[in-house]
Amino acid sequence: MSDDTLRSPSRRRWIRAATGAAAALGLPRGSTAQQASPAAPPRRGATMIGVPFAKHERVRFALVGCGGRGSSLLDDMLHVPGVEVKAVCDIVPEKVAKAQAAVEKAGRPKPEGYTKGDHDFENLCRRGDLDLVYVATPWNWHVPMAVAALQGGAHAGVEVPSAVTLDECWTLVDTSEATRRHCVILENCCYGWSELLVLQMVRAGVFGDLTHAECAYIHDLRSLLFQDEGEGLWRRFEHFKRNGNLYPTHGLGPVALYMDVNRGDRFERLVSMSSPSLGLQRYRDRALAAGDPKRTESYACGDMNTSLVQTAKGRTVVLQHDVVSPRPYSRINMLSGTLATFADYPPRIFFDASNPHAPRPRDTKSGHQWRKVEQKRKKRDKDGIENRFEHPLWTRLERDAKKSGHGGMDYVMSWRLVQCLREGLVPDLDVYDAAAWSAPAALSEASVAQKSAPVEFPDFTRGQWQAKRA
Ligand SMILES: NC(=O)c1ccc[n+]([C@@H]2O[C@H](COP(=O)([O-])OP(=O)(O)OC[C@H]3O[C@@H](n4cnc5c(N)ncnc54)[C@H](O)[C@@H]3O)[C@@H](O)[C@H]2O)c1
Repeated sequence: MSDDTLRSPSRRRWIRAATGAAAALGLPRGSTAQQASPAAPPRRGATMIGVPFAKHERVRFALVGCGGRGSSLLDDMLHVPGVEVKAVCDIVPEKVAKAQAAVEKAGRPKPEGYTKGDHDFENLCRRGDLDLVYVATPWNWHVPMAVAALQGGAHAGVEVPSAVTLDECWTLVDTSEATRRHCVILENCCYGWSELLVLQMVRAGVFGDLTHAECAYIHDLRSLLFQDEGEGLWRRFEHFKRNGNLYPTHGLGPVALYMDVNRGDRFERLVSMSSPSLGLQRYRDRALAAGDPKRTESYACGDMNTSLVQTAKGRTVVLQHDVVSPRPYSRINMLSGTLATFADYPPRIFFDASNPHAPRPRDTKSGHQWRKVEQKRKKRDKDGIENRFEHPLWTRLERDAKKSGHGGMDYVMSWRLVQCLREGLVPDLDVYDAAAWSAPAALSEASVAQKSAPVEFPDFTRGQWQAKRA
C-alpha cells in the first residue's frame, strides 16, 4: 500500500497545493499561521489508543540504521531478555557487518544483512517474520521506514524526531491505524531516572495542579556537526534552510507525560522565536581549514529557538532548542504546580509549606532554597522522595541499566517496550505521542516564518485526547 492510498483525496489536494518553503513544511501554499493546522483528514482505521500488543513469547527484532544510535540500541537489545535479532540494515556494508559481528559475539545466530542501497530496508520489512523494527536513520528516512515496517506486519520503534513535517505526522498516524500496528516513538528521555521519578510524583499529587513546564534540547553539537562521519554527514544540512526547533521530543516527551497530553490534555497552540544564526558560521570559520567547502555554507536556523506551547487546559510549556552554542548539556526538565516545583540539571525540588507530600518539615525549606534530589541518596535516606517515588522500572532495572547508554534510560526504554510486547500490554508511547511531540518542529518553523504568529497543533487523536488512560 503506498502512502497516498492512506490519505484522503482532500488531503492529497492539500499536499499538492503546497509549494516552496510551505511545501518543505507540509503546509498549504500561502499559509497563514492558523491554516498551518488543517482539520484532521477522515480516519482510515480505528484508533490505536489503548490497543494492547498481541502476546509475543519471543520478540523477533530488526534494526534499520546501524550508525551511532543504532549500534547502541542493538547493544541494549542484546541484553534485553526475550529478543531475537533477525535482521540488520544499513547502506554501509561495513556497518552491517559490524552489527552482525556484535550479535554473534553475544552468542546469537548471525542476523541477515541488508546493504543493497537506500531502499533495501523495504526488503527487510517484507520478510514477514518480524515483530519489531527499530528505525535509527537520518530524519528524512524515519517515516518511509516506519511505514514499510508497519505495512510489513511489524510494530515500529522510531527514533526522534519521528517525523519532520505535519504531513509526515499524519502519515504515521494513518498507517498505524490502518495496519493495526503500533508506531512507538523511541523517546528514551521519558525513561530517565529523574523523569520517571517526577512522573511518579505527579501521579501521587505531589505537585498539586500542574501549571507550567520548561524543557529543551541544549547540546553543543558543533564539533559533531562538522565531522565527515556519522551525524556530520546529514544533520548539519537540516540547519541550511530550516529555522525552528529541529529536535523537540527529548524535552517535550517527558513533559507531555507529566501533563497527560493525549491522556486528558493536549498541546493546542504554539508561538516561536529564533535568535540570530551565528554559532555554526563562527565555529567553522575558526575550526575548518581555509578552502574547506563547508566554509561556503550558510545556515538559516537560529542558534536558540524558543517556543511557547499552550495546552487545552491552559498550561504553558517553554520549549527550547540550541545545538550550536557553548553551553553545558541540558534538557531543563522543569515542572511547576500549585504545591511544588522541580528542576533538573542538577535535579532539585521545592515544596510549598503546605505540601502534605514533603518527606518531613525540613524539606519544605523557607525562603528560596531548593532541596537536592539525588539518585544515590536512596541508600542513606529511606523516607526521602528518592525512595518513595522512584519508578518501579528503575528499582527493578537499575543494575542492568547502568551499563547502557545515556545513564541507563536507553536500556529501560527498550526493556519496557519488549516487556509490553511479551506480556501483551498497551505500549507506554504510541503514534499519537510520536506525532504530537514531533509536530513542534514544523509548527515552530511556521511560526518563526510568520514573525511568531500562533499556530495550532493538529489533534492527531481526532478527538480522543480527553480520555484518561490506565
Ligand atoms: N534518542 C537518542 O538519544 C538519540 C541519540 C542519537 C541519535 N538519535 C537519533 O537516531 C537517528 C540516527 O542518528 P545517529 O546518530 O545514529 O546517526 P548516524 O549517521 O550515526 O547513523 C545513521 C545511519 O543510518 C544509515 N542510513 C542512512 N540512510 C539509510 C537507508 N536508506 N537505509 C539504511 N540505512 C541508512 C547511515 O548509513 C548511518 O549508518 C537520528 O534520528 C537521531 O536523531 C537519537
